[in-house]
Amino acid sequence: MASRVSNAISAPHIPDEIATRIVDPKAYGEWNQLEKDFTWLRREMPLAVVDAEGYAPFWVVTKFDDIQEIGRQPKLFANNGAYKTLINQDFAKHVEEVEKNGGRAVNRSLLTMDAPVHMRYRLITVGQFTPKGVKKLEKSIRPLAREAIDAMVGHTEIDFLNAVSHRFPLRVILKLLGLPRSDEDMLLDLTQRFFNPRDPDLAGEQGGPSAGATSNHAALFEFYDYFAAIVADRRANPTNDLASVIANATIDGELIAEADAVNYYMTVATAGHDTTASSTACAVWALAERPEEFAKVKADRSLIPSLIEEAVRWTSPVNHFMRTALVDYELRGQHIHAGDWLMLCYPSANRDEDIFDSPFEFRADRKPNPQIGFGFGAHVCLGQHLARMEMGVFFEEFFTRVESVELAGEAKRIESIAVGGIKRLPIRYKLSD
Ligand code: HEM
Repeated sequence: MASRVSNAISAPHIPDEIATRIVDPKAYGEWNQLEKDFTWLRREMPLAVVDAEGYAPFWVVTKFDDIQEIGRQPKLFANNGAYKTLINQDFAKHVEEVEKNGGRAVNRSLLTMDAPVHMRYRLITVGQFTPKGVKKLEKSIRPLAREAIDAMVGHTEIDFLNAVSHRFPLRVILKLLGLPRSDEDMLLDLTQRFFNPRDPDLAGEQGGPSAGATSNHAALFEFYDYFAAIVADRRANPTNDLASVIANATIDGELIAEADAVNYYMTVATAGHDTTASSTACAVWALAERPEEFAKVKADRSLIPSLIEEAVRWTSPVNHFMRTALVDYELRGQHIHAGDWLMLCYPSANRDEDIFDSPFEFRADRKPNPQIGFGFGAHVCLGQHLARMEMGVFFEEFFTRVESVELAGEAKRIESIAVGGIKRLPIRYKLSD
């Protein structure tokens, strides 16, 4: 892969030690040092280049305003230029070879499309994901929230992430797409292998120049086969679920391609639960460490909407998405050239001292909270209102039944450069009688 930063020589370079961490999944798992690195970058080098071994150089965008400026100009900063998330050169080569030999167009999704095609595909489902669209689901998903919390009954300690918070949004997505409950564990496993191919606990693949590629691709192809069968089924026997809406969508009078329907399912199915599960669990983690914040929301449930915004800001489960500049552009005094690759660092933007008062404090009642964890602009999270509604229902049930919560061991973050979050949250708790 050619250099993605055409002026890589003259642009300011991020010190090697930090650059190495920005491309290292382990650093995301450990997190604290990386958080310090981002704080330093925002202050000293808010827009600069990572030139790390094995990676084409790319810009790192750490400031909130810069991510917004890029996000609001999709005609200048494309999703469809290079890869949508950072991958190393060996991985890129592997992807190209697999696609050449496998012949399946597995890489095109909402996230890699640009205008005008992107909006036409987004419009297929957008009605289901508006605040009004998701409100209709509220009643039917409340029992799922109660059922997830039921897993806490009869114990005093639990891995909250795996036993409770993963389960609820996954069951909501299954319901929405019209997939059987029996596929729950399989979809959870596939999503984890797909998003976290370099986490030793979640995918088990380590080391090697194309680390992660095999695990990621194996998951991708398993997803493909599973969803291609659903596309065929919903075309033959349409129902009123979201899978039928996508399978039978037409553009210019033609059914969308099988690969586009499959990738649509895959984006909704994966993006639709993992991030929400992590944001919910990270909020519980923060509350377990801050009994005064727990007490505040327990006493006043009208704080739940602001708790949710703070949960997404605090967690920022999506570590980055990439954009490719289509034109030369001046940003924060730096010269970006057409073809340059840019990493939008959402967790950094969500700690930007110029935007957030005391950004390193978790405040359940933070106001204002313009968090950017759902992204910004044309590709802003399609499921953001669903995520907010789900988390709202979940926390209403949670605060009704949970009297107190504390950590019962070490919480663990995922070792992943792109979609992160947590993989373990041991808590001790008391439920109401
Ligand atoms: C707390 C939960 C969530 C977070 C933090 C989150 C975050 C994000 C981010 C950062 C993006 C990319 C934005 C950009 O590139 O500008 C995105 C896109 C997307 N998200 Fe979410 N998401 C969440 C929940 C969901 C849910 C519940 C769904 C369910 C359908 C979903 C579906 C999507 C889809 C389909 C896209 C691609 C949109 C496009 O490219 O047009 N997400 N999300």
